[in-house]
Amino acid sequence: KLGLHDLDVNGKRVLVRVDFNVPMDGKQIADDTRIRAALPTILELIRGGAKIILVTHLGRPKGFDPNFSTEPLAVAVSKLLGQRVKYIVDCIGVEVEGIVSELRAGDVLLLENIRFYEEETKNDSEFAQTLASLADLYINDAFGAAHRAHASTEGVTHYFDQCAAGLLMEQEIEHLNKMLHDPERPFVAILGGAKISDKIGVIENLLDKVDQLIIGGGMAYTFLKAKGLSVGDSIVEVDKLDLANGLFQKASDQHLTIHLPHDHVIGKELDPNTESQVLSSQEIPDGWSGFDIGIETVAKFAEIVDTAKTIIWNGPLGVYEFERFAKGTLEIARRVAESEAVTIIGGGDCVAAVHQAGVADRITHISTGGGASLEFLEGKQLPGIEALTDRGEK
Ligand code: 3PG
Repeated sequence: KLGLHDLDVNGKRVLVRVDFNVPMDGKQIADDTRIRAALPTILELIRGGAKIILVTHLGRPKGFDPNFSTEPLAVAVSKLLGQRVKYIVDCIGVEVEGIVSELRAGDVLLLENIRFYEEETKNDSEFAQTLASLADLYINDAFGAAHRAHASTEGVTHYFDQCAAGLLMEQEIEHLNKMLHDPERPFVAILGGAKISDKIGVIENLLDKVDQLIIGGGMAYTFLKAKGLSVGDSIVEVDKLDLANGLFQKASDQHLTIHLPHDHVIGKELDPNTESQVLSSQEIPDGWSGFDIGIETVAKFAEIVDTAKTIIWNGPLGVYEFERFAKGTLEIARRVAESEAVTIIGGGDCVAAVHQAGVADRITHISTGGGASLEFLEGKQLPGIEALTDRGEK
């Protein structure tokens, strides 16, 4: 697989797929982490004298929709780079070709939201070819979109002689690969989030890799219920109980324990002001739901975290958005950050939680991929990455 440094970009038009799919608050960017994460690649290309054409999706628009325009992103990138980034209200066509032909070495152009064209998600080959014709070289730095086989992530690679991974893409792959295939041990996984159905593939794959598996968050209640414990009104995926039992079996075959909450913070309703209490029992009475791990569980999970040399964490351990149910997630975030281990965090909620806990700068690697990092952890091949491999070897 080629990297940015394998390419001679001087004076070349380089199409760079970035993932600037950032949360928006109207026309304001609510969190620019993903934009910042792509800056090293853009700066390196500027230094190398490339003519840079950035392309991204933003949200899931249906056709041309000004509410999903990338124009505010161009303003943000300009500020971060300290250099004016050109923006054009389209992705292909005569006008785009015109502005591209006027680019000088070191110029940066941002195209309009690529998903305004339905050909993008359909991975239409004609569209991909037209997009590719804008440039001499292709770089994919959009790890967050690498699980999508779309025209700008996969289709386009068929029309370039040289395709390479950007610096962010390389870094993401390196950290996640090392963790999955050659981790320092003990290797501990912490999985949370509301639903077990989102994480089945990840749990199955990680059971083959880790030394300890911790499960918290909403999905823990399906596991507790499968063990025959009463979980009150907690969220349970009834159709996944057999599957949970299958995972217990797989874990025990591998002499692994799935660590579940021992105690809980429970509430009446999923509401920030609901009646709540700390419950020292593992079983939850009817009329109550588990919304956070309890203090004993925090201590137990933290003890396991302290032994680790590698930690992967995906999914919060409670409803951390509400103060009274945030303690478990934030406390574990602090312990993970304090650990000497290589620590990797994925998934938007967990990333928000480490920021909330004020410890983000002490995490080894915070993945910019949500769905992409989950699929990577499932052991799946991501089309955006595979496509680079294919073209590079040609
Ligand atoms: C993400 O935010 O996970 C990526 O940008 C992919 O977005 P999508 O789920 O709309 O394809």
